[in-house]
Amino acid sequence: MKRNVWIALAVAGALNTAQAADQIEVLHWWTSGGESKAVGVLKQDVEKQGVTWKDFAVAGGSGTNALTVLKTNVVSGHPPSAAQLKGPSIHDWAEQGVLVDIDSATQGWDKLIPPQVGKFLKYDGHYVAVPVEIHRMNWLWINKEILDKVGGAAPNTWPEFFALADKMKAAGYTAVAHGGQPWQDVNLWEGVVLSQGADFYRKAIVELDPKTLTSDKMVQVFDIVRKIGSYYDNGTTGRDWNLATMMVINGKAGMQFMADWAKGEFARAGKVPGKDYICAPRPGTAGSYMFNSDSLAFFSQNGSKTATPGQLVLAKAVMSPDFQEQFSLYKGSIPARIGIPMDKFDDCAKRSYADEQSAIKANTIVPSLAQGMAQTEAVAGAMTDVVTKFMHSQQDSKSAVQALAAAAKVN
Ligand code: BGC
Repeated sequence: MKRNVWIALAVAGALNTAQAADQIEVLHWWTSGGESKAVGVLKQDVEKQGVTWKDFAVAGGSGTNALTVLKTNVVSGHPPSAAQLKGPSIHDWAEQGVLVDIDSATQGWDKLIPPQVGKFLKYDGHYVAVPVEIHRMNWLWINKEILDKVGGAAPNTWPEFFALADKMKAAGYTAVAHGGQPWQDVNLWEGVVLSQGADFYRKAIVELDPKTLTSDKMVQVFDIVRKIGSYYDNGTTGRDWNLATMMVINGKAGMQFMADWAKGEFARAGKVPGKDYICAPRPGTAGSYMFNSDSLAFFSQNGSKTATPGQLVLAKAVMSPDFQEQFSLYKGSIPARIGIPMDKFDDCAKRSYADEQSAIKANTIVPSLAQGMAQTEAVAGAMTDVVTKFMHSQQDSKSAVQALAAAAKVN
């Protein structure tokens, strides 16, 4: 594969008149209201430095479509200058020899990037990607007006959650806004796995321990997921995550299980945490932090083994303290770069930061499976199929855990 890709790149290089060094094409899937505002900051920053930004946005939450487009373009010899990538997949791309290092832009980075994120950004000791932000995955978003109307409080446990959902349902609301796309299904499910403890999560999702995957606790996880499904409306099929968030923003639904890019949508709609909505760790997960971190990885242009000046400008722009702050203010995340002051951030982001710090100390920080941070594409894909199939059928929990353990063995 490595050789073929290089040949394709070389041919493209010969046919293609050299791409202007001061133009960069950036492939990403930041297309919702909050996301576009956030990525607009980066475009502005690089353009200020004389680099033309060629936007290559491919809609579809979690990169489902963008990553397919990326593969096609790289294999046909038209890689973007940089693409939104994350976790182990960065190493997969690097192994194919299609990434370039950006070492000359990375002075001092080792001390500025938290290790749980940093380990994915280097290949063979060289930086091939730059971190954009850190998202907390295990959030529950609650419409405050509905919460007050039914006299509820943010739930700490599953029994409390179901009692609250019952009240919302009885008051005529959709209790849970859900988007029935595979990655959203898995994010909901992985949050329930985490509610059984960070150690349990790690054993099941990171270590793929067969006993844990087929344990009674895992059966309970599927039972809880089944029960949550009884609080959806009828429109979940294929619904985008931001449309589900909109249901909570508009007071049609009481709650949504989603990462904090949902906060970018609340912010865009002028909503204030604590007043209009609540961000609460999902039931049973207050002491844990499930993370996702976007990065931009740099693709070799015209077969070159060195980064273009435009790519280096982009790498430095992403790591700059101003960008790290402003992007996350719009996006709902927290900066990936260590040491950015949190005073301009809202209470949810401050809590995300504080909880992340304590989870690092307590060893309760875990990578998200749904977001490609925990497993290779093959394993994550096989596990996703199991969870999605369960959520869109009447399969029983005991057979689902058996299927899950089998899926974990695909590697
Ligand atoms: C990305 C986020 C993005 C979300 C929804 C995730 O895969 O990491 O940056 O906001 O998808 O599109």
